[in-house]
Amino acid sequence: MTTGDRTSYAQGFADLDEEVAVGTLPVTGAFPPWLSGTLLRTGPAKFDLGRQTVDHWFDGLAMLHRFGFEDGRVSYRNRFLRSQTYCQSQAIGALAHGGFATDPCRTLFQRIAAVFHPTFTDNGNVSIEVFGGDVVALTETTLPVRFDAETLQVLGHRAYGAQVGGQISIAHPHHDARRGCRFSYVVAFGRKSRYRLFAIPDDGGPERVVAELPVDRPSYMHSFAMTEHYLVLTEFPLVVDPLRLLLASEPFIRNYRWAPERGLRFHVFEKDGGRLVTSLQTAPVFAFHHVNAFEDGETLVVDFIAYPDAQIIDQLYLAPLRAGAAVDATGKLRRYVLPLQASGDVALTRISEAAIELPRIDYDLCAGRRYRYVWGAGQRRTGDFLDSIVKIEVTSGETQDWWQEHCYPGEPVFVPVPGRKAEGDGVLLSIVLDAARSVSFLLVLDAQSLKEIARAECPHQIPFGLHGSYLSARN
Ligand SMILES: [Fe+2]
Repeated sequence: MTTGDRTSYAQGFADLDEEVAVGTLPVTGAFPPWLSGTLLRTGPAKFDLGRQTVDHWFDGLAMLHRFGFEDGRVSYRNRFLRSQTYCQSQAIGALAHGGFATDPCRTLFQRIAAVFHPTFTDNGNVSIEVFGGDVVALTETTLPVRFDAETLQVLGHRAYGAQVGGQISIAHPHHDARRGCRFSYVVAFGRKSRYRLFAIPDDGGPERVVAELPVDRPSYMHSFAMTEHYLVLTEFPLVVDPLRLLLASEPFIRNYRWAPERGLRFHVFEKDGGRLVTSLQTAPVFAFHHVNAFEDGETLVVDFIAYPDAQIIDQLYLAPLRAGAAVDATGKLRRYVLPLQASGDVALTRISEAAIELPRIDYDLCAGRRYRYVWGAGQRRTGDFLDSIVKIEVTSGETQDWWQEHCYPGEPVFVPVPGRKAEGDGVLLSIVLDAARSVSFLLVLDAQSLKEIARAECPHQIPFGLHGSYLSARN
C-alpha cells in the first residue's frame, strides 16, 4: 500500500510483517532504574491478507509487542498472535472468521452453515489481561488466547464467559482487588436475550453469574463501569435485533442500528447479591471507554469518553484511514451523576472539551474510587488523528499535553513508582509513531508533568495498537 504523505498518520495503518527479538533497544535519556517489568501490547497489524483486505481497522490480525525493562535497559519482541483466526486466515489468504466489520471469506453454503455452527473469531487484537495467572489477548468474543509473556507464543484458549453462557463479551473487564476477582459481562443472544454480569476469581476458580437483565435489543457496549459496591451497564442506543445477528447477512457491527429515541440507559447492580438497584435514562450518546466511576453519597459518578453518536465507528474503516482522512468524531470526557434513590434525574457535566481516547487512570489506587487524573491519547494539534498525550484533571478540567511534530502516540499506560505517595506518581509508557521517520519509539513521560524522561527506538514502525498491560516484575 501507499500512504501518500510521508508525514501522515496513515503510516500507522500499513501492515507490519516483520517479527523480531532485540536484546537492547537504543535509548535516549534514562529509563527509570525502578522500572522493572514488561509492557505487553496488542493491536491490528496485518490488513492485507492476500486475496482480501479487511474493511475495518478493528479487523486487522493481532500482533503482540513486548517491551522488557530491567536496570534501565529495554528489550523488544513482536510476534503475530497465532490464534485460530490468524492461522486459518494466513492459510486461505482471507479472513477466516467474521470480524467486527468485515465479512469472512465464505461461499453461500458456508454462509448458511455458519448460522448453525457459528465460529467466533479469536483474533485478540483489543487488549491484554491476566486471568488467574494466565496472560491473555482479548477481542470481544468468549475466546481469549493464552500466551507466554516472554516468548509471545500461543498456549491455547482460556474460558471467559463461556461457563456462564453468552456469545459476545468485552475486552475491558474490571479488577476488584478487595474481592479477589475480575468482573465482566456477556451478551447471551437468543429468543430472550440477556446481559449477564459475571465474576472471574483471581484464584482460578469457576466463573459465577453476578446479575442478569433481559433485553430485547442488546446494545453494543465496549466497556462498563465499576464502583466499590456497584457495577453499571451503560446501555448506548446502538442496538441490534438478535435475529439479524443470527442470520448474519452482514458483518457483526453493521447489524447494529443507531436508535437515539431509546436514549442512554444506565443499569446499576449491586456487586454483592446482584440486585438491580435502578435503571435510569437520559439523552443519547455513544462511547467505547469508561474512564472511572465512584460513589458519592446517594449518587454514583460515572465518567466516560462520549461521542454524540456512533459515527466514529464509520470513521475507522481502513480505506479512509489509509487515505489519511480526518478522523474528526472526537471523544470528550463527560461525567454522569446517577441518583441511587428512585427519584431524581441524571446530571451531566462536561468535564473538558479536549479530545481524548484510550483513557487510563492510576487504576490500582483509584479504580472505583474518587480520583483526579485521566491520561489518554489526545487530538490537540493536527485535527486528523490521535496526535498527542493528554492529561485531564477531572475536578477542574485543567488539561496538559505532550506533542511532537509528525508523531502519533498510542494509549499511555500508567505505571506507578514503587511506594508512591500520591495518585499519579509514576510514568506513562506509550508507543509513538514518528511518521516523518517511519519508525516507532517507546516514550516514557513523567505522569505528573508530562515531561519526557526517555525513549527507546524500535527497529520498525508499529501499526497503531489498541490496548496493553504492564506486568511488574516486583509482584
Ligand atoms: Fe477498548
